[in-house]
Amino acid sequence: MTKTTWKAGTMIYPLPAVMVTSGTMEKPNVFTAAWTGVINSEPAMTYVSIRPSRYSHELIEQNGEFVINLTTQDLLHAADFCGVKSGRDTDKFAETGLTPMPCKFVKAPQIAQSPVSVECKVTEIKKLGSHDMFMAEILAVNVDDSLLDEAGKLALEKCGLVAFCHGGYYGLSGQIGTFGFSVAKKKSRKQKIHEIKAKRRLEKAAHAAEESEEEEEVKPFKKRKPAFEHREDRGFEERKPRKFNHADRRREDRRFDDDEKPFKKPFAKKTFGDGKKDFGDRKPFRKTFDGKKPFADKKPAHKPFKPKA
Ligand SMILES: Cc1cc2nc3c(=O)[nH]c(=O)nc-3n(C[C@H](O)[C@H](O)[C@H](O)COP(=O)(O)O)c2cc1C
Repeated sequence: MTKTTWKAGTMIYPLPAVMVTSGTMEKPNVFTAAWTGVINSEPAMTYVSIRPSRYSHELIEQNGEFVINLTTQDLLHAADFCGVKSGRDTDKFAETGLTPMPCKFVKAPQIAQSPVSVECKVTEIKKLGSHDMFMAEILAVNVDDSLLDEAGKLALEKCGLVAFCHGGYYGLSGQIGTFGFSVAKKKSRKQKIHEIKAKRRLEKAAHAAEESEEEEEVKPFKKRKPAFEHREDRGFEERKPRKFNHADRRREDRRFDDDEKPFKKPFAKKTFGDGKKDFGDRKPFRKTFDGKKPFADKKPAHKPFKPKA
């Protein structure tokens, strides 16, 4: 791999694109931030870097509190809007339909539609240059009940979290590993991969089921009436089988096979592997019924020509 070296920049991705709420329930504000993350585990600590020109900078500096709300694909449109409009001149809650909801430990509201809202208390503001870094202690984490299983375990992968990467928003394609899988013992590693694959299969199936539910209901194929019913409906009578009659046969032979002499070559000429003739629906033509030739007893219409001796 060859690489090109660029000047210093903030090329560290992916990052979350969170919605940071501040102010009060009566006068709330929300802005989108990607310069955020975890800075300590115990106590749990986070940060948000905010340009001094932002309205949120003013509110958070005043109140010393904010809430980090995780963004899902359903909330992405609102999140982008909150990242381009200022609360100084727009009521972003009213414009986006986001709902402010009271928190337990801070006056700033959380967003009701966000699956995870983290209540934060500012501990330090560090002026870094373009941005001021608001370091904060996490006081509480509010999670959507519908993401908790019976044992109280959080299924965060179900809510469709969004990542921000080099100017674009991305959905997460699904789990591809678990913490420590690279050093896990061979057997358990295999087991873990198997579990991940099974989980992804379930997710796919659930997704497909959801999509098919959304599809329009397909009308069942209407069975057509059989042809004979149609015929009856339209007043056709069922055909009666005709009686065989030599005169008919003669006429038909003429009709179908004009240049053949009647009786010498019956219309059913095909023979198949077993030597049988194919007569279709009709009875096979028989030259004789009782050993005689048909019309053998009939007198010829004209006297046969006998040359005079
Ligand atoms: C995806 C995204 C990430 C952003 N990240 C930050 C950030 O980390 N810090 C910041 O000061 N502004 C960031 N912004 C810009 C602010 O959200 C934007 O200026 C917003 O209008 C400020 O709103 P406010 O004036 O109501 O506080 C980001 C915008 C977007 C769309």
